[in-house]
Amino acid sequence: MKFYLDTANLEQIEEVASWGVLAGVTTNPSLYAKEGGKLADFENHLKKIATMVDGPISGEVTAETADEMFEQGKKIAAIAPNMIVKVPMTVEGLKACKKLYDAGIDVNMTLVFSVPQAILAAQSGARYISPLVGRFDDNGQDGLEQLHNIIFAIDNYEFDHDVEIIAASIRSVNHVTQAALMGADIATIPYAILKKCVKHILTDQGLESFKRDWEKVTSA
Ligand code: G3P
Repeated sequence: MKFYLDTANLEQIEEVASWGVLAGVTTNPSLYAKEGGKLADFENHLKKIATMVDGPISGEVTAETADEMFEQGKKIAAIAPNMIVKVPMTVEGLKACKKLYDAGIDVNMTLVFSVPQAILAAQSGARYISPLVGRFDDNGQDGLEQLHNIIFAIDNYEFDHDVEIIAASIRSVNHVTQAALMGADIATIPYAILKKCVKHILTDQGLESFKRDWEKVTSA
C-alpha cells in the first residue's frame, strides 16, 4: 500500500518527503483554506507541492458544472506532469471526469461513499477513487466496512484503464492497518496520523534497552 500525505501544508510535506517513503499528496479546498491559502496563490501552491514530491499530487476543482470543472481541471493538470485532478462524485463530476479522461488527464474521484458511486467513477474514467472512511464514522456508519465493499466490488471488474482505491479521510493508525489488510492501493493520511504510523511503544522500549546494554559495552 502506498502512503500519501493528506495536506496542503508545505512544511509537513517537506518533512515527510525527507523520510523517503512519500508516494504522493492529496489536497482539497478545506485543506488549502486551512493553510490560509489565497485564490491568487492556488496554482503556485500546487506547483510547489508538485516540485517537492515526484508522485501524484491531487488538486481539486471547485466549479459546479461539468464544462467549468473540465476547464479548471485542464489548468490544474497543466501545472505539472504529476498533477492529478480531483473531481467530486456528482453527475456533473462524472461528465467532467469522462471529458478529462478523454483528454488524457488522470482524475481522482473524491467524496465517494458507496459501491455504485465507485463503479460509476471507474466507468467514467477515474484513475483513482477516494472513499472517505472517517466521514462514515463521523455519521455513525462503519467506514472500514464501506471501504472493504468498494475495494471488493471494483476488484470484481476489468476497466479499460488502471483504477486505484485511495483510502481517504483517515482518522487513526487502525484505519491505515485495516485499509492495508483489505488491499487498498493507497492510503492518504493526515500528518499527525502518519507520524503515529512510524511509532510503536515496543519499538521505543526495545531501543531504550539496546542503548542501556550498549552503554555496558562502551563502559567495560
Ligand atoms: O480529501 C478527502 C479526505 O481526505 C478528507 O478527509 O478528514 O476532511 O474527512 P477529512
